[in-house]
Amino acid sequence: MKKPHQKMSKFPELILNWYDQHARDLPWRVKGGGSVDPYHVWLSEIMLQQTTVPTVGPYFQKFLSLWPTVNDLALAPLDDVLTAWAGLGYYARARNLYKCAVIVRQNYGGIFPKSEDALLELPGIGPYTAAAIAAIAFDQPAVVVDGNIERIITRVFRLDAELPKGRPEIAAAAGGVTPKLRAGDYAQALMDIGSRICSPKKPKCNDCPVSDLCVCAHADDVGIYPKKAPKKQKPNRSAIVLWICNAQGQLLLRRRPEKGLLGGMMEFPSTEWRTDVVLDGAMRGEASELLQNFGLSRSADTEVSCLKPIKHTFTHFHLHLHPYVVTLEPDEQVMSNEVVWALPTEFTEYALPTLMKKVEKAVAVDQPVLPLI
Ligand code: ADE
Repeated sequence: MKKPHQKMSKFPELILNWYDQHARDLPWRVKGGGSVDPYHVWLSEIMLQQTTVPTVGPYFQKFLSLWPTVNDLALAPLDDVLTAWAGLGYYARARNLYKCAVIVRQNYGGIFPKSEDALLELPGIGPYTAAAIAAIAFDQPAVVVDGNIERIITRVFRLDAELPKGRPEIAAAAGGVTPKLRAGDYAQALMDIGSRICSPKKPKCNDCPVSDLCVCAHADDVGIYPKKAPKKQKPNRSAIVLWICNAQGQLLLRRRPEKGLLGGMMEFPSTEWRTDVVLDGAMRGEASELLQNFGLSRSADTEVSCLKPIKHTFTHFHLHLHPYVVTLEPDEQVMSNEVVWALPTEFTEYALPTLMKKVEKAVAVDQPVLPLI
């Protein structure tokens, strides 16, 4: 078996040479060494947190056409920003994005700070994002470590450090090979290699610019790195969601509390999302109470129809929502100032999260299957 090079000093050069020839053409990148706009870098990095490159592309373009500068974004109504974000998920990111834009406008005159430390102080910017912005937008020699880079580094060095606990060890190894010059190009090169070549499954070692240096490639066990601690099972939660339709065909929506999951987004009202509770009398009782809070004296036990449940997976749990359809009589009134009525054709004006779009779809395609007794 051929021995890998002991010295990794060639690593950054090989990576950068590869990038010069093979960099992906992405909307937030500037070709030919032109100067990048820190606003574009920041916006793309926030969108790319937990979202893939192909999904982010159109959202990135839409945001830039609506708000060409960070000051424009800061002056937009928050609701418009949340609406434009709808579909990207993890809505706390959109709220932090907005907060960050406001701070950059108010405290920095619309110019992003350059240092990793100052970036870290801003909402929505954690250690990875601060390093990525410092490196890509300002060419600072920051050590950028995302999941792609962790994968490459653990394979090249054949590090047994288990994720997530072993992150500091992996970051230290990454720091040891990060170049002082072109740190932004270097980080993006590793991201590209991580997504196209050093992929989690079936890595294309023959196409890799550093396969000669890669200890795992030589040991022929690339596929088992990075090592991961066994995953905990996600708990299940369930609730009833109410599809309340008036005689004009409008649906009742309300705003979720600002804090917490899907904070501030519009929703079809639901009972509390309880852990491991199945659709039972107690849950239907809660749904009846919710209807009564709206001034509707209906029993979810007998007077509404129930559709097949939908499943939605969040970071920490699976949610099973049972849609209940409630059709109001022409003279029936909802007693609440905290709701809005919207036709399905108007839903695009509201920041409806993906979960609620699933509810809409379930109601549209499904017929009542379980008449309640
Ligand atoms: N993922 C996060 N940031 C990225 C970038 N700048 N290029 C490609 N993928 C990324």
